[in-house]
Amino acid sequence: MKSSSAINEYLKEQASLDLLRFITCGSVDDGKSTLIGRMLYESQMIFDDQVASLKNDSKKHGTQGEDIDFALLVDGLSAEREQGITIDVAYRFFSSSKRKFIVADTPGHEQYTRNMATGASTADLAILLIDARHGIMTQTKRHSFIVSLLGIKNVVLAINKMDLVNYDEKVFRKIEKEYKNFSQKLKFLNIQSIPISALKGDNIYQQSKSMKWFKEKTLFHFLETVKIKPQNSSNFVLPVQQVNRPHLNFRGYSGTIASGDIKVGEEIMTIPSQQKAKIKEVYIGDKSIKSASFRDSVTLTLNKEIDISRGDVLCKKDSLVETADQFNVNMIWMAEEKCFPGRSYIAKTHNSSTGIKILGIKKLYNVNTLEHQPSKELQLNDVAEVTISLNKSIPYVNYQDNKFLGSMILIDPLTNQTIGVGMINFALRRAQNIHLQSLSINKELREKMNGHKGQVLWLTGLSGSGKSTIANALEKELYAEGKKTYILDGDNVRHGLNKDLGFTDKDRVENIRRVAEVARLMCDAGLIVITAFISPFRSEREMARSLFKKDEFKEIFISTPLKIAEKRDPKGLYEKARKGKIPNFTGIDSPYEKPSQPEIEIDTSKSTITESVKKIIKIIS
Ligand code: ADX
Repeated sequence: MKSSSAINEYLKEQASLDLLRFITCGSVDDGKSTLIGRMLYESQMIFDDQVASLKNDSKKHGTQGEDIDFALLVDGLSAEREQGITIDVAYRFFSSSKRKFIVADTPGHEQYTRNMATGASTADLAILLIDARHGIMTQTKRHSFIVSLLGIKNVVLAINKMDLVNYDEKVFRKIEKEYKNFSQKLKFLNIQSIPISALKGDNIYQQSKSMKWFKEKTLFHFLETVKIKPQNSSNFVLPVQQVNRPHLNFRGYSGTIASGDIKVGEEIMTIPSQQKAKIKEVYIGDKSIKSASFRDSVTLTLNKEIDISRGDVLCKKDSLVETADQFNVNMIWMAEEKCFPGRSYIAKTHNSSTGIKILGIKKLYNVNTLEHQPSKELQLNDVAEVTISLNKSIPYVNYQDNKFLGSMILIDPLTNQTIGVGMINFALRRAQNIHLQSLSINKELREKMNGHKGQVLWLTGLSGSGKSTIANALEKELYAEGKKTYILDGDNVRHGLNKDLGFTDKDRVENIRRVAEVARLMCDAGLIVITAFISPFRSEREMARSLFKKDEFKEIFISTPLKIAEKRDPKGLYEKARKGKIPNFTGIDSPYEKPSQPEIEIDTSKSTITESVKKIIKIIS
């Protein structure tokens, strides 16, 4: 074992070695943490004190009797120890005399595919761990497919726990063959199968004495020597993360180089504005250097002042960077909540964030057969090809040419959770040929003529809560005051514009999307629009709100309790629903998500219609 200072010396010596980034993936219990722990141990990258505490911990928490439990070395998080699973991406560094390694230890539990995708996005190689006793599982196939989608070309099939199958070559060959058949359709360049026992150390560092039939390289030796095509080697691209202006005489553009390299004196171009300039200086930290390359965090200065802001991209003239706002992407859905076309989310791209809508699901992949099928929604862990629309154009490069500029993560605006990742296949050209027509009579002029602002009063609540009744009384009152109004009502709109829609979650999402768009047009026409829809999902109501200016949209929660709405039952629908004659009935077997911050709340069992109308009129702008 090495002391800390010896390690530092050792690392210095190794600074010139090339670096292999890899991920490990496999099902829970396949032995990932044990494998990584074993590799760290065998490459002598742990300190004496760590070994002492590892031996100690192994006795206390370990699962290997008197042997060292290598998994304890890697499973740093206490929750993992308790549950016996790995729950976050952990990056480990180690090295040999030939190469340096960074390994992202990615979780194997089904719902943690998200972390796997995060770890995999920068990796050159994936180790897929298989338990020799169980062979290829659905999870192995899913991980392989994701690894392939993420553009990783080299795979090691590490068939582990060979000690538990008597080191039997037949078991190994059978799994190897099955995997080769399965993976033919995936775009791997190189698949190497290695029989190992991470626990006993067979074929990790030393050739196994128990598997003399295996004559190829050990895992460690293979990782040391495998040839990797450098990622993102051509085409300089720098997404600008920050415009750096510490004083008047310095204006630098900072970010991490997403591909290629750059030298002082070279000409660059800005995207989207397509202005040109030459590189005056290149800095890493405050050190001025002549050139920088892929993954370096740099600050560049230019020979002339041009207008560049955060989110722009600097590249060379012949780069592949373009801008667009609609794309075909491969998407991995990672949320428990389903994904519906039409629903709005937030997309985080390399350095900006914007609203995103799934336009349609082109194909859903079956991870077992790699065939695809149509689908109307996405569930947890689904992988699909979808079309998307962003609220603004972004600079991008297709994922296969640039992983940084070609990928995005999707965030749920309500919970802030990551719910998906997308990899751009290509931009949809149609978007570039549709331009907004500018018209001479605009909203301001129409509002002036009407004598009031265009706005939306969005009533939401259960069926029978009183939405339509209030909307009707409110409109009568506004009409009497000479206001220009229109009511969009659930039952009415569903007879015409939305008569193709039912009451599944997916159809309700689409119902509200269309209604919100119509309300937007009517608001633009200068009308006071009153909408009366159950609109049971928070996400769609927030989407509707996002289409309007701050004071144009008021959410009015008709909070009459279910009990009372059901007692009123004006259309006899609750009775039918209770008898199971109307499926997906809101409040019975379909959810209603209450507004958390409505502008007004009205309970019609507590206040009269006249009082309710007065309350609403007060907040009309
Ligand atoms: S929403 O959920 O998509 O916003 P919307 O307001 O358009 O619903 O339509 C609700 C009206 O449709 C109800 O007032 C009721 O009259 C009728 N309806 C028919 N089936 C259902 C159902 N399964 N759930 C709720 N409302 C239903």
